[in-house]
Formats: sequence, structure tokens, C-alpha cells
Amino acid sequence: MKKVRKAVIPAAGLGTRVLPATKAMPKEMLPIVDKPAIQYIVEEAAASGIEDILIITNRGKGLLEDHFDRAPELEERLTGNPEKEAILGQVVGISRLANIYYVRQKETRGLGHAVNCARSFVQGEPFAVLYGDDVILGEDPACGQLIRAYEAFGLGVVGVKEVTPEAIVKYSSLKVEPLQDNYFRCTDMVEKPAPGQAFSLYSILGRCVLPPEIFDILDRTPPGAGGEIQLTDAMRALARRDGMTAVDFTGTRYDMGSKLGIMQASVEVALDHPEIGGAFRAYLRELAGKL
Ligand code: UTP
Repeated sequence: MKKVRKAVIPAAGLGTRVLPATKAMPKEMLPIVDKPAIQYIVEEAAASGIEDILIITNRGKGLLEDHFDRAPELEERLTGNPEKEAILGQVVGISRLANIYYVRQKETRGLGHAVNCARSFVQGEPFAVLYGDDVILGEDPACGQLIRAYEAFGLGVVGVKEVTPEAIVKYSSLKVEPLQDNYFRCTDMVEKPAPGQAFSLYSILGRCVLPPEIFDILDRTPPGAGGEIQLTDAMRALARRDGMTAVDFTGTRYDMGSKLGIMQASVEVALDHPEIGGAFRAYLRELAGKL
């Protein structure tokens, strides 16, 4: 079986739920305290053994490219200043996380359409997809957990979590049977199920590992929910044909495509932040007393 060495990060959505912040800037560049969402995602991929990453962009391509590039003028300013040594290391380190490539999705026709822009990058290998607005934080990188499931079962893998009955209609719903531990076999799925149409409360949240056959399926996938080419619709064909493995991954997932998710991520990361954690905790306690 081929190793999973490549990852695709779709970051070309319009981010209409967080306008006007995303008018000119991709939501994937929104920071959680001091680091843009997409950097957490690239770090997760790198920690999972991924060497080559393709970021699917549209607006803000320059911003993304600059973030993962060297910054000679900035580095020169930080060099030789003992107080800035740690941040200099971090700034330079960002450019060494992985080999990062970019392609533009020329029309915003949905996540499935965005992933289909990766065909020539993937070159017949299995690959991971990390949704650009889903940040997952935890000890064991979520992408790596899915790669291990791919290596164990040889089938496409989806990262899942149980969501509430109110939330499932906004996400996908999976038909699953327990396999072992946090692994399930998935044989069907539906995107944005109408009330009463959900298979289960298990939903795909932000990560999958796909075999290259997905591209031929995507080519044949018509627009689905919201008039967009849905990755879930293509994965449904794969799940029905071959079966897929669903992994109830460990880690906390933050939806950086929603205002509430952005605030939850910022507050929780700030509480543990080595520089501001103590002061922020004291501030929150004081604030909570006034609520
Ligand atoms: P979403 O559906 O959450 O993104 O896609 P969106 O369309 O930007 O959301 P709204 O407008 O706030 O509802 C999940 C991921 O897929 C990417 C997004 O950038 C996000 O990371 N995406 C979505 C694309 O790359 N291209 C698309 O055409 C749609």
C-alpha cells in the first residue's frame, strides 16, 4: 500500500459567515491569539508525517504564500536582539514546515470542486484533506490518526464526531457500525440531512484520507446541497462501493468558519498561552464576576 505523503488544504471558500472580516482576507488566515488558523493546520499535517501540501486558494493567495515564505527584512530586524530570538526561530520555522504548493480554484463551486483541483498534484497517491477552517488541537494529531486507520484497513477514512440533533442538519450524517475502539465502518452518508433523514449523529468534521479514485468520482458528481459540488456526495459513492473507515478522533475541533468557533478557539488557546495565559485567566475571572 502506498504511504500517505501528501495533503490538500482547501482554503478557497468565500467565508460568508464571518463577513466582513473575510471580505479581502481568507478565513483561514484569521488568528487564534497569535497564529493564523492555517498554520495550526499545516503544523498538524507536518506532525502527521506529511511532506507535500497543496493549498487551494482564491483571494488572499499572496497573503498565504507570504506567511509560509521567508521574510528577510523582518528576520534581519529580529536578528541579534536577545529578546526577539525565540520569535525569530518561530518566524523562520514557519517556512520550513513542509513543501507547500498553491493552486487557485477558479470558481467557488464547493468543497468537492476545490478538492478536484488537486488531481495533478496528487498523482495517483492516497492523500489527506484538511479543511482549512477546521482547527483541531490535541496531543495526537488528528490527521495522523486518520492516516493510521488508512494504513490499517486500506480504505478511505473520514474523521468524525457526534454532534447534536440540532447541528446535524448543517453537517453530514454517516451510516456507521462499530469496528473496534474509536473505529467504525461507514457504508453510506448524506450531506445536510433534512430533519428525520439522518443516519446517525456522527458527522465528518474537517479531515479525511482519500484514495486517488475519488477524482473520477468527483468528475461525475453533480452539484448537491446549496448548488455546490459536495465532497460528501463523492465520498458517499466511495462508501457505498468500497466502504470507508470512520475515526472518532481525539482532540478538540474549532470551527474557524463561524463567529462562535473563532471566539471559543481564541479563549481556550489564550487560557493556556505561555505568555498571556495567567493574565488572561485573571481577566476572565474578573469579567465573569460582572456577568
Ligand atoms: P465551507 O462551506 O465551510 O466554506 O467549506 P465557505 O463556503 O467559505 O462557508 P460560508 O460561506 O461561510 O458558509 C469548508 C472548507 O472548504 C473550503 C473553505 O475554504 C473551507 O476551508 N472551500 C469551500 C473551498 O476551498 N472552495 C469552495 O468552493 C468551498
